[in-house]
This record gives sequence, structure tokens and C-alpha cells, in this order.
Amino acid sequence: MQDSNEHSEILRNIPLIPLRDLVVFPGTLVPFIVGRSSSIQALEKAAEKDKMIFLSAQMDASVDNPTAKDIYSVGVTAKIIRTIKSDDKNMKVIVEGKSRARIVEYLSTYPYYQILAKVVKEVDDHTAESRDLLKRVLALFEDYLKLIQNANLDSIIPALRENTPERITDIIASHVYMPLEEKQNLLETASSLERLRRLNYVLENEILKIHASYQKDPQRANRRRVSLKDQAQKTFPPGSGSPVCRKEDQPNEIEELRQKVAKAKMPPDAEEKAYKEVERLEAMPPMSAEATVSRNYLDWLISLPWVKKSREKRELKEAERILNEDHHGLDKVKERILEYLSIRQLVKNPRGVILGFIGPPGVGKSSLGKSIARATGRKFVRLSLGGVRDEAEIRGHRRTYIGAYPGRIIQMVKRAGTKNPVFLLDEVDKMSMDFRGDPASALMEVLDPEQNSTFLDHYIDTDFDLSQVMFIVTANMVDPIPKPLIDRMEIIRLPGYTEDEKLQIAKRFLMSKQMGAHGLTEANLKISDQSLLKLIRGYTREAGVRSLEREITSICRKVVKRVVQKGREHSEKVTPKNLEGFLGIPKFRRSEFDKRDEVGVATGMAWTEFGGELLRFEANKIHGKGNFTLTGQLGEIMQESAQTAFSFVRGKIYELDIARDLHRNFDIHIHVPEGSTPKEGPSAGITIATAIISLLADIAVSKKVAMSGEITLKGKVLPVGGIKEKLLAAHREGIRVAILPLDNKPDLKDLPKILKQNMTIHLVETMDEVLKIALTRELPKKPGDDRDAMAPEAERKTRAGEEEASKEPPLTN
Ligand SMILES: Nc1ncnc2c1ncn2[C@@H]1O[C@H](COP(=O)(O)OP(=O)(O)OP(=O)(O)O)[C@@H](O)[C@H]1O
Ligand SMILES: [Mg+2]
Repeated sequence: MQDSNEHSEILRNIPLIPLRDLVVFPGTLVPFIVGRSSSIQALEKAAEKDKMIFLSAQMDASVDNPTAKDIYSVGVTAKIIRTIKSDDKNMKVIVEGKSRARIVEYLSTYPYYQILAKVVKEVDDHTAESRDLLKRVLALFEDYLKLIQNANLDSIIPALRENTPERITDIIASHVYMPLEEKQNLLETASSLERLRRLNYVLENEILKIHASYQKDPQRANRRRVSLKDQAQKTFPPGSGSPVCRKEDQPNEIEELRQKVAKAKMPPDAEEKAYKEVERLEAMPPMSAEATVSRNYLDWLISLPWVKKSREKRELKEAERILNEDHHGLDKVKERILEYLSIRQLVKNPRGVILGFIGPPGVGKSSLGKSIARATGRKFVRLSLGGVRDEAEIRGHRRTYIGAYPGRIIQMVKRAGTKNPVFLLDEVDKMSMDFRGDPASALMEVLDPEQNSTFLDHYIDTDFDLSQVMFIVTANMVDPIPKPLIDRMEIIRLPGYTEDEKLQIAKRFLMSKQMGAHGLTEANLKISDQSLLKLIRGYTREAGVRSLEREITSICRKVVKRVVQKGREHSEKVTPKNLEGFLGIPKFRRSEFDKRDEVGVATGMAWTEFGGELLRFEANKIHGKGNFTLTGQLGEIMQESAQTAFSFVRGKIYELDIARDLHRNFDIHIHVPEGSTPKEGPSAGITIATAIISLLADIAVSKKVAMSGEITLKGKVLPVGGIKEKLLAAHREGIRVAILPLDNKPDLKDLPKILKQNMTIHLVETMDEVLKIALTRELPKKPGDDRDAMAPEAERKTRAGEEEASKEPPLTN
């Protein structure tokens, strides 16, 4: 029956808790205290099974050990939402009522009751009468809430309207004070129409009673208006309501809360709010749902770090030492971080400097954040924004919502326990936006030094000062980040590592980290540089070192197993030869890219959120009429740039005197393999043009060359993004010649040395230059024709009269 009780009709062996003076209705969240040992055991049993429990009221609350005849046979199945051990032997529990159900049989009575229960079917009787009655009951309920000055008036009614009539009647029944028998009666009534009739009657009566009590004692009513406490006393017939709690607990709790508020050293506004809330709590029936809400709120207020701070370390040398201790290389990045730290020391609140780490996965963005916290002596918290789509997730829900919570910013600050942690906002580029309000604009406020000293969380409802938090933002890509957010950040790019850097990181960081984590000593495991290199080449293909770390972990795991089997002294040596024994056959072999030069195949450098990568563009001729097909999951922009490349080539064929029968005899098909990864961007333009011209001219493209650049119709080469990432990927794959747009020249400063030494980078302006470098032979030129790219229009003119030209179709596709 495990896990299935929640939705089944018959519930076998469900633990039962008899309730004193309390009826729980379906669709309501109810807190109560459990003190009897049998009930606590029932609760524990349910909690470890499927969290489903059966709740039914005792007919007489004063009976300590009720038997079957003392317990109403209709109750409710409920799910345990939370249990909290309170100080003594009691448990606080919050349950959510699920369905009306009847006790069929008591299956066991010791150490707690287990029963067989059957869900009671709701009678579906929506009629014109029930619609009218529902309206009337809602209006009465609203009056009632106003009369008792329920603080949540504005939210309860709208929230209520979203429910079905069945649920509405149950929620109202649980909110309105009435004798227990009346509540039980409402619970036992399966027809919602019938319940509406009862509620109509009960509410009218209650409202009359309240008015009458005002009239009797108008002074008092005026003095306090009617606090909930008054109401409870006036309208609760003795023995009804929710006196499950013991009154004598209350003064202590209130006094304790007051002391805690005083100790929390809140700013004046917050403190005043807190004291007011304590006062409200004092006036509430202690076990009411409202009191729980109020207590939670006070807990939050009290536990926030209003004044608590970490002592900041200011020694720059020490900071530098720690940064170096945690990360290999990244010199430029570390330098920027140190600059940033020194500015923060000089200027108290330097404006608008929030570090933004941008780069592919596994390059150390998150771990740098942690390292900065260590270097500055602050606490570290991380919040992943991936999938956050709702403003309320950042800024919280108003307390009037059932189950409201503060937003994640406040939650994290509480977790940090200090008001000046390093706060890493991970994956801002994965944050999504939709109709429920824009999380980005809430985030803007968090990051805005002008506003964040008075950050207002909807739940906390009083300003919290975030100005001393050191925010760091990370993302894989810049593009998806809202522009105003980018403007707030000081962007630091981490493009990825060269093979050599990866080797150093593996040797000096990842190995010792993972060996430590697996309890291995240097004597247990040795791995040579050659084996690490083989591992990097054969088992990973990435800009960062995440898979590298994973593979190292799996080696460590294997070794641990052997050490456990063979004894502490056991030692393993990983060599290039036995590496496969540890990791299986290599996942990546030097691919196509290494092989012979091919006609119609050009190598492009692409840039995705995973870093740089090489793409193979294949062009083929098929029988047809000069059409152009593209396959391989190409995004819209890439398709457009392919069309542009194709049009350029069509303009070029007469000049080059190649494939002049293109439009009559064949179609061109361009395919980019590894079709599962979507490809996007304009930077494939020159590669596609190269592949087509190579095909038409029957001249191979050099496999040593990779390229990236946008193409215009006239064959100009425009700049593109992600240069460092692209070059790193090309280098990783053994490419030694790169073609890039001239306008990308500024991107070439601070290239890793190894790239500068090992690669020839050609910066070009025109497609003709690209072809000269990329093709293995020079293109044929018409004798005497020394013009470069020529506009198709002019071309046509010079060839007017020639048969082919006159038949050329319009240059559209
Ligand atoms: N330069 C480096 N020196 C030492 N260790 C590094 C270096 N770069 C990355 N690492 C290690 O690589 C692992 C992955 O890094 P991290 O989780 O910080 O990546 P990330 O950039 O945040 O990736 P993602 O975008 O997927 O979140 C971590 O264990 C980190 O310590
Ligand atoms: Mg990360």
C-alpha cells in the first residue's frame, strides 16, 4: 500500500489520531499539537510510510484514552506536511486535509490505532440554487472576516474564489468559529449544497451574535475593535474552538519572543514590526492557523543577520595567496579580482561593481566565487537562478498567501548568517521570464547599490540592508542576460583552458582533491603526465575541466576498491597502457578533422555555451535546378547566413568560370553533422561559402585550416564573437591555421601563449583572401580578369549576350 494511500478509495492500515476539539476539513492546512504517546507513534509511523494519516474528532475532549465509541466515525484523510519537535514531549504538526472518509474497521489499537477507512464520495449537486447560495455565503463570510478584523481579509476572499464550491465550503467551515458538533456535522455532510445551506445559517447567526455583543459593550468594541482574542472568547461556546493547546505555555512563549526580538538588534522599523507582531500573536488563539503564520514570521525576523558580520580580511597578499592556492593559472582573472578587492577597500561602497564571470561549464566560475569568499574572510552562499521564472522566487510571497515564504535572496542571507557574505548568483543566463512578473527586474534591485540597502522582501515586509553583500554573477553566455543587468556587472571572461593548462590543473589540483576525498595517499596512486594527457585527449572534449575531474574521480574509485580489498599498502600506477583498464575504451578519437583534405568539406569554428567547438560543413551536388538545402539543426540566423553565402557563390561562378550550369543541372545540399546539437549564429558564413566553392571548383579545402566569420552578399568578412573560445577549441583539435575577420583583431590580445606560438592566425577582409588560404590549390581565373568580387548585377552586364547569362533565373532563393 506504500505511497498509494493518498489517492486510493480504501485505505488499509492507516494510522489514526483522535483530535481534541478540532475538526480538520479537506483542502485546508491545519497545525496542531500532539502530546499523547500513542498519537506521536501514529504520527511517526505515518511519516515514515506515505505521510498519510486519518484524523477524527473525539466526542468528548476530556477523555484521555478514547476508544472506538468515543471517536466520530467520519473524519478526514490528511497528509503530514511538517512535524516539529517542540521543547517537551509534544510534537507540532502541520497537516493538509485530503478527503472525507469513514472508519470501516479498527484493525489494531496498540500501540496506536490503525484502521481500515473508506473515502466518502462527494455529492455533486451544482444547481442554480447552489450557485446563488455560494455567492451569498461568500458575501457573508467576507462580512464575518471584516467584523472579526481578520488581517488577511484582502487575500482570503480572492484566494477562496479560485476553488471549487466543495472546497470553498470546507475552507469557510474551518475558518468560522462554531461548536464542535456543528463542525462535525458539516464534515459528515457529503453534499456541498447541503453544506452551503448549513453555512448560510451558521454565518448569519454568528454575525448577529457579534453585532449583539458590540451593542452590549460598545465602548469595549470601540477601544479594541474586535481583536481575534475577543472574538474567540465571545463566540466560542465553552469547549469548542481550538483549545488543544495548553494556555499556560503562552506567556512564556510571548516573553521569550520579546527577548529574542530585543537581541536581534533590528533597525527601528523592523523592530517595531516585530513587537507589533508579538502583540498580535498574543491576542490569537495559540493553536490557530494564524498563530502559526505569525510565529513563522517572527522566526524569520529574529533569525536574519541584521547586524552580524564577518570580519573582512584586508591583506591583499594573503588574498592573492589564497586565490593561487585554489586555482591554477587564470592570471588575468586573479589580477582583476585583486584590483576589485583593493578598490573595495579604498571606497566604502564602490558603486555598481559586481563581478560577472562568463564562460563555458567547468572553467571554475563557481569555485572562484568560493575562493574569493575564503580570500576575504566572508561566508559563502550560492543561489542557482537556473529555472527561476517568478519574481516571487526572488522577492518572496506576501504573508497573506497560505504557505508563504521569503524569497531566495533572504533565505540565502539567513543561511549565510552574516550580512556581508559573498553571494554567488549562478546561471543568470538560465533565468526565465514569464507572465508571473519578471525575476530580472527584482534581481536588478538586488544588485543596484542605490536600492539594495533597502531591499524589500514581500514576506519579510520590512527593509533589509543588502549593501554589504558582495554579489558575484556567473553565466555561460552573455546574450540571454537582460541588458540592464549586464550594465551593472564588471564582466570577466573565462574562455577555457589549453591542453597544457588542463594537465597542470589535473596534476596539481584535481588529483590531490579527489585523492583526498577518497582517502587515498600518494603511495596508493600514481599517474604519469602522459596518462593524464591521454585521458584529456581520449576521454574529454570540453573547454573546462568538469569531465576531466569526473574521469579522475572514477579512477580514484577503482583504486579505493582495490586498496580496500588488498590492504592499505596497495599501490596502483596509471600508465597510458593501462588507462583503458580504468576507464574503458576512449570516448573521443581524433576525428575526421585530422584526416585528408577533402573537396566540399570545410572546418568552421563555432561557439556555444559549452565553449568553442569545431564543426564540419559538408557540401554536396545533387541532381536538381539550382536549389539549396540545409540540414543539421541549423538555427534561423545560421540558415540566413548560409543563404547569403550561397547567393554570394552564385554571383561568383561566372567570374570564376566554374559550374556555370548550376541552376540547370543540380542542387546544392549543405549538411552539418552532429545533428543533435542545435547550431546558431552568423559566423559560419565564410565556412559555408568555402565548402560550396570547393565543391564547385573541385579543389580540396585544407584540413589544417579552421575558420569563422560572417559573410556579406558581396563577399566581405564581418567580425564574430567568442574568438578565444573558438581558438582554444581549434587548438585542442590539432588545427594550426585559423582564418578570422580582420575586425576581430582586438580580441587577439591576451591570447594564451601556447596559441600564439602554435597557431598561424590570418586576419582577412574578403572571401577571396579566405579562399586563397583555405583551398589547397588556387582557383582558376578567367584570363585577363583581375577583378575581385564583383556584383552579380555588373557580372550579368559584362556577360550579356552569352547564352547562360540570359537564361539565368532571378537571384532569389
Ligand atoms: N584553474 C583551476 N584550477 C583548479 N581547479 C579548477 C580550475 N578551474 C576549474 N577547476 C575545478 O573544476 C571544477 C569545476 O569548476 P566549477 O564548478 O567552478 O565550474 P563552473 O565554471 O562554475 O561551471 P558551470 O558553468 O557548469 O557552473 C571545480 O572542482 C573547480 O575547482
Ligand atoms: Mg558553476
